[in-house]
Amino acid sequence: MNGVSHDLLVPPPTQLLKERIQVPQKRLLMGPGPSNCSPEVCAAGSLPIIGHMHAEIFRIMDDIKVGLQYVFQTENPWTLVISGPGHLAMEAVLVNLLEQGDTMLVGVNGLWGDRVADLAFRIGAKAVRMETEPGNAFSLQEIEAALVSSRPKVLFLVHSESSTGVMQNLDGVGDLCRKYGCLLAVDTVASLGGVPFSVDKLKIDAIYTGSQKVIGAPPGIAPISFGPRAVEVIKGRKTPVKSFLLDMKLLSVYWACSPGDVRFYHHTPPINLFYGLREALTAVVEEGLPAIWKRHEENANRLRDGITGMGLELFVKNPADRLPTVTTIRVPEGLDWKAVTKHAMEKFDIEIAGGLGLTAGRVFRIGLMGYNAYPEKVDRVLAALKDSIKMAKY
Ligand code: GLV
Repeated sequence: MNGVSHDLLVPPPTQLLKERIQVPQKRLLMGPGPSNCSPEVCAAGSLPIIGHMHAEIFRIMDDIKVGLQYVFQTENPWTLVISGPGHLAMEAVLVNLLEQGDTMLVGVNGLWGDRVADLAFRIGAKAVRMETEPGNAFSLQEIEAALVSSRPKVLFLVHSESSTGVMQNLDGVGDLCRKYGCLLAVDTVASLGGVPFSVDKLKIDAIYTGSQKVIGAPPGIAPISFGPRAVEVIKGRKTPVKSFLLDMKLLSVYWACSPGDVRFYHHTPPINLFYGLREALTAVVEEGLPAIWKRHEENANRLRDGITGMGLELFVKNPADRLPTVTTIRVPEGLDWKAVTKHAMEKFDIEIAGGLGLTAGRVFRIGLMGYNAYPEKVDRVLAALKDSIKMAKY
């Protein structure tokens, strides 16, 4: 015995014995994510657990890698999954690419760019903020001017600012980064799969997304990919990556990304989430990216038409900057937005989100992603929004 008696300091919590776990069975998740998963994905997630060094899980991981190369549209061998949310993938990009004293230029037009600048500062890098108002994107001219004045090691852009509903146009940015000798890192957490996109054609060096959005898997794992220029920078680091869990040189071996990699124990990943992602990727491949992109565009248009048809105003002024996967709606003057989202949840069991960061209190956010980007769901959320606004007004 180690000197601890059998008397318990903390008694058994009776609330765990009163009832088994309860979750709403039919809640429709029309916020910025997570989105609902298909029954097939949910069923895959509850398959029996196997070990993280078993041959069968390695086959599943190999399937995930090729599925993600398809979704990212990249031939990058270092394409894998981080065991954690999209936020951890954001941290992985930064801790691997940056060292103490490096400069990163980051586009800040909402919460996520701001978060990236904060993370860069935490790891001892210098974050130069290129800012514009929430609701706006950056022009190529603004980006070039900021690159010229800051001469960063990395340019970081958020492709899908889910806090504002802005989509950043990336055409030409990869070429600019090569011209000014820096890497291009991009956050596509809320967009990848839902809009035409190609990592390799856009010359992106580091990228990540969320499993729980367009791809349609449960939250808790994050697809990530590093191109050859980023891999060279990581391999040439002067100091070790400060996080063992996120060290891509180690993780890429566990995922057997390069020929000759001998898998070794790195950490115990969320096996059941891998099953869900594997199943979700099968559905993506079955439908095909061009069809999925088209479906998201058509349903986003249906949603926008419904919103403006109700007399509401879209938050993002320039139609070209509107993200199809997360639509932001200006909260009408004097309307109690919390009463609206609460009513939608209580009466319709539908999630409509409020704003985030600088858009808190200013917008509603409606997500149309993956399994939820269908006309029937657009119509349901529009009806719930209409009824909830009417209720909040009177
Ligand atoms: C999460 O991704 C959010 O935008 O709320």
